[in-house]
Amino acid sequence: MIRVAMFGQGLVAAHYVAGLYRLKRGEMEPYGVPLAKYKLPYTWEHQEVVLSYDVDQRKIGKSLKEVVKSALEGVVTVPEDVPDIPIREGVLANSAQGLDKMFPVRGRDQEKGLKDAIEEIANELSEVNVDVVLNLISTEPANSFEDVDLLKKAIDNGKVSAAQAYAYATYLASKKMGKPVAFVNLIPTPLANDPAFVKLYEDANSLVLGDDGATGATPLTADVLEHLAERNRKVKYIVQFNIGGNTDFLALTIPERNLMKEKTKSSVVEDILGYNAPHYIKPTGYIEPLGDRKFVAMDIEWITFNGLVDELIINMRINDSPALAGLAVDLVRISKALLEKGAKGTFYDVNAFYMKNPGPKDARNKARIKAYYDMVEKLREMGIIEA
Ligand SMILES: NC(=O)c1ccc[n+]([C@@H]2O[C@H](COP(=O)([O-])OP(=O)(O)OC[C@H]3O[C@@H](n4cnc5c(N)ncnc54)[C@H](O)[C@@H]3O)[C@@H](O)[C@H]2O)c1
Repeated sequence: MIRVAMFGQGLVAAHYVAGLYRLKRGEMEPYGVPLAKYKLPYTWEHQEVVLSYDVDQRKIGKSLKEVVKSALEGVVTVPEDVPDIPIREGVLANSAQGLDKMFPVRGRDQEKGLKDAIEEIANELSEVNVDVVLNLISTEPANSFEDVDLLKKAIDNGKVSAAQAYAYATYLASKKMGKPVAFVNLIPTPLANDPAFVKLYEDANSLVLGDDGATGATPLTADVLEHLAERNRKVKYIVQFNIGGNTDFLALTIPERNLMKEKTKSSVVEDILGYNAPHYIKPTGYIEPLGDRKFVAMDIEWITFNGLVDELIINMRINDSPALAGLAVDLVRISKALLEKGAKGTFYDVNAFYMKNPGPKDARNKARIKAYYDMVEKLREMGIIEA
């Protein structure tokens, strides 16, 4: 059994929970789970959600099943066997800016201070004997610490972001339990890209994977750029618009939060082309009626043989949250298998496929089509994927 805890019980988390329990019941095919066709030591059948945290006052204390049902009403039928565990109160840390404009928020650090709140969450994670943690909170502004002492000082002074607080709590839980735990960071906060967190996790024989799940337009852009690079076409510019109507896009209308996405999305260009072609790649706007099925448009021009200019235009409407939830189903089982093989710190080959900004720091982004086969080969070598 893989015991899963979740931070951020929003739309992606709701799709993960509903999809997971539907898969367990055999109610649907595992479309959107990239490694579904391979045999790994664990499947979705082994995943069980044991804890969930949020800071939205309307969710805290309600049951997971109730919150998932209300998030997916009219979209997906939620199976009755989704656990009735209560959503617990998370921490706001340094990450509350603007959230309270969207909904009423509350964090347990407001009363007892961040350090004690982290300690308390670490105890809760150990009590349930957690194996894998999914971080799915709203995108927040945060910087890398680089150095473990600086990170620990910031924890003492309550000067870390919520995702950093959760990653630290998970590290403490792993130490307390004396067993490895994986923290899968699906948001842009640099954790797998922060040498301080990677070092902490290494010391605890644990894993931090990240950062920022690669769904939607970014992996497609990476593969298109690879196609052009392989043919030695010179890219003149890349324009990519993303407009959505879910609360993730609403949160990104707050400037510091948008900047975090811009950072993780833009690293693909130079890493794949080898030069920094002029580009505009960022979440562009929020329009409520689009809902979760966002609109993506891409325009790329390049110079081909004899100096002529070609152009590619792509338009798509894609369901945003289920895409990441499908990746999470794989990441949970891969993380557990990696821990059992003794992997610690972070793990580039998995990050390179599933993440927009694959850790460790300064690791390159590569085309997902290459990353996929490199990862499968690596997992085969380790005996995680059966030959
Ligand atoms: N395809 C995708 O949807 C995709 C891809 C890559 C990354 N992401 C990232 O995944 C995250 C979740 O996306 P979503 O669509 O579910 O967003 P969402 O807005 O529906 O959910 C976020 C949830 O996190 C909660 N939250 C905010 N701050 C918190 C805190 N400090 N502690 C605990 N909970 C907190 C919110 O109350 C909300 O319930 C976002 O950061 C998003 O950028 C999504």
